[in-house]
Parts: sequence; structure tokens; C-alpha cells
Amino acid sequence: MDFDIKDKGLATGGRHRIEWAEQEMPVLRSIREDFARERPLAGTRISGCLHVTTETANLAHTLQIGGADVVLCASNPLSTQDDVAASLVNHYEIPVFAIKGEDNETYYKHISAALDHRPHITMDDGADLVGTLHKGRQELISEIIGGTEETTTGVIRLRAMANEGMLKFPVIAVNDALTKHMFDNRYGTGQSTLDGIIRSTNVLLAGKAIVVAGYGWCSRGIAMRANGMGANVIVTEVDPLKALEAVMDGFRVMPMQEAAKIGNIFITATGDINVIDVHHIKAMKDGAIIANSGHFNVEINLPGLAKMAVSPPRKVREYVDQYELPDGRKINLLGEGRLVNLAAAEGHPASVMDMSFANQALSAVFLLRNADKLETKVYSVPEDVDQEIARIKLEAMGIAIDRLTQEQEAYLSSWEEGT
Ligand code: ADE
Repeated sequence: MDFDIKDKGLATGGRHRIEWAEQEMPVLRSIREDFARERPLAGTRISGCLHVTTETANLAHTLQIGGADVVLCASNPLSTQDDVAASLVNHYEIPVFAIKGEDNETYYKHISAALDHRPHITMDDGADLVGTLHKGRQELISEIIGGTEETTTGVIRLRAMANEGMLKFPVIAVNDALTKHMFDNRYGTGQSTLDGIIRSTNVLLAGKAIVVAGYGWCSRGIAMRANGMGANVIVTEVDPLKALEAVMDGFRVMPMQEAAKIGNIFITATGDINVIDVHHIKAMKDGAIIANSGHFNVEINLPGLAKMAVSPPRKVREYVDQYELPDGRKINLLGEGRLVNLAAAEGHPASVMDMSFANQALSAVFLLRNADKLETKVYSVPEDVDQEIARIKLEAMGIAIDRLTQEQEAYLSSWEEGT
């Protein structure tokens, strides 16, 4: 079996952590039971370009139990958990091509290795696998049934490809499922981003001015949790509706140029480029901490920061690079401007990834079952899949809900009854 990981000797610790995560993934466990009986993915080759975490390991194992032949590469150079990669290779016989801290060249070499698997289904988090495939490995397209995409940024890229007529196979936007973005993006990013900031800096959040760039599902989760930790949260936005929501949720809203002067900690999660630019950094206070929780490391102008600093950064803690500006002010960048929650912590907790990855597993089955009907476009996860995932999750949590009575159902479908 071909693979490229840091150290197979890390496998035992990885296995313990994979099993720990599994306890918090009841929906995936229940899908696994069905998969073991029905083997809906028998003979299907799946290449996954995902953050190699304990939760992803549980997804890969579930697909394997469903009969799939799975390989994994990383969807970010800094997000791989090397012990998990080792366990996947050692205990689960799943080839992994991913090493935490790999350079860009190795990152793409690993994507290419995952494509050498000749997938029937691609599973992406950020669309790098699909992008690489469309740019340089088009010979693989004839065997592909479809793909799935995990994240907002990836779905945006795929829709751009589809609009330009470039997309060559159907892709399911897992991110669009309600049981994905309402939970993973909001509660997952909210908690894991603060986790990354706390683990890397150990600063007290209470009383700090925390500037959150964006008020989409991810950034509103961050703002909500930072508020809960006693921070003084400022939101920056470009969308008037989202800005208004942030205001009515009780946050101060202002342009980044003004927030730059006030903030102690800055967190970007917008999906766009140079949200924290050189002119913002110039206005920041000494000791400011900047972190990104958006998919790509483009939200902070990193080349600009390096250029305005008097020397290369000093690594003052494991995930903290300190840049000194000409007037002596220090700016602290976390996790090299990459996803701080995965670089400096462990990503979203298993309980939310449970639903995201349940969507992934069921979307793979949907692709196979509907292969002959699907067009080359971006699809949403079927609504009944979304509902079923929510139902199983609630059941696993021991929470019962009401049912509509016949009278109520009739009322909802009639237009005649008024006051
Ligand atoms: N994205 C965010 N958190 C994650 C996790 N724990 N595993 C996989 N992908 C993630």
C-alpha cells in the first residue's frame, strides 16, 4: 500500500483519539450499521481531500464499511493530525497522503497521489481536488460519477466553475445542507476558533476587544462564542443585511479601518481576500493578535505583513509568529494565517462533524444511486436526507419532539380559515 505520512509509530495514540471521537458521532455510527448490512458503496473508489482529523477518520472508516475503497489527502497543509494519518494507514488500511506542515509542493503532490487512485467519487473540502483534476488530470473525468463538497469556499468555487461551463461532473454541495452549515459552520467554527486562539496564546478573552470580520454562519458563531467568553465583540461586514443582523444581535459594527484601532484580537472568516490589509495592520495596537478561520490563507495580507515588518517574524510560541513594525509595535500572527482552529487546535468537535459527515456519506450513496440522472452541476443535499440526519441526531441526544396532529396538518394545508 502506497502512502506518505509523518510517522507510522504515532498510530496507537491516533487510534485512541479516533475511537474517542466516534463516541460523539451517533449519526455516523447509525449510518455505519446500515452500510455494514447493505454495502451501498461496494467497489466504489473514493478520493477524499479533507482535513485529516479524528472525525474524518471516522467518515473514511464508515465509507470503507459501506464497501468503498478510500484514499485520503489533506485539504490544508497545516490541518493534518499525524497520529490519525498513522492510525488510518496502520489500523484501517486506508492510504493517506498528508503530513502536518507540508510545503505547497508536497501538498499538491499528495493531491495528485490521491487522484492516482482513479476515483469514482471525489470528496473535497475547498475544491482543490476537483480544481486540480479539471486543470491537469482530465483523463480521469470519464470514470467519475460525481463529487461532494464540504465547505462554503469550495461551493463558491464550484458554482463559478459550473457558471463558466467548466464543471465536468455533478457535485453535491454538502455545505448547503441545514444539518451542515447551521451547526458545523456556526457552533463548530465558533468553538474551535476560540479553542485555537486560546491554545496558541493562552490569553484571557474576557474584556478583550475582539474584531470578527464577516457575519456569515462561521463568523456569527465566532462572534457569539467570543461574546459568551466576555469579550467586547466588534463585527465588520460588507453586506448591509448581515451587518444589520449583527447590530440587532447586540454587536458593534464598523469598518475594519476603525476597528483596527480598537481591537486586541482580530479573526477573519469571510472567504475573501485581504480583509485585513496593510493599511489596517498599520493602524493596529502594539501586541495585536490576528488569526484567520476562513478556508484559505488569503484573508490576511501575509506578503504585505512580511514586507512591512523590519525582519522575519520571531516564533514566540508554537503557533505564534511575531512581526515587528518599524516603530517597534509587535503584531502576532496565529497559525501562519491558515485555519486557526485546525492549525492550532483540533478543528470542530466530533458532535457537529457527525452531521456534516453523515451528509457526506449519504451524498456519496445518492450520487451512485442517481448516476444516470444527474447533470454536470452543483446539487443540494436532498431535503429528506437533511431531515433524517436531524431526526437521528435528536434521537441520539434523547430529545423527543411533538408531531403535528391531523387537525394541524389540515390547517396548514388550507387557505380558507382566517380569524
Ligand atoms: N473542518 C473543521 N473541523 C473539522 C474536523 N474536526 N474534521 C474535519 N474537517 C473539519
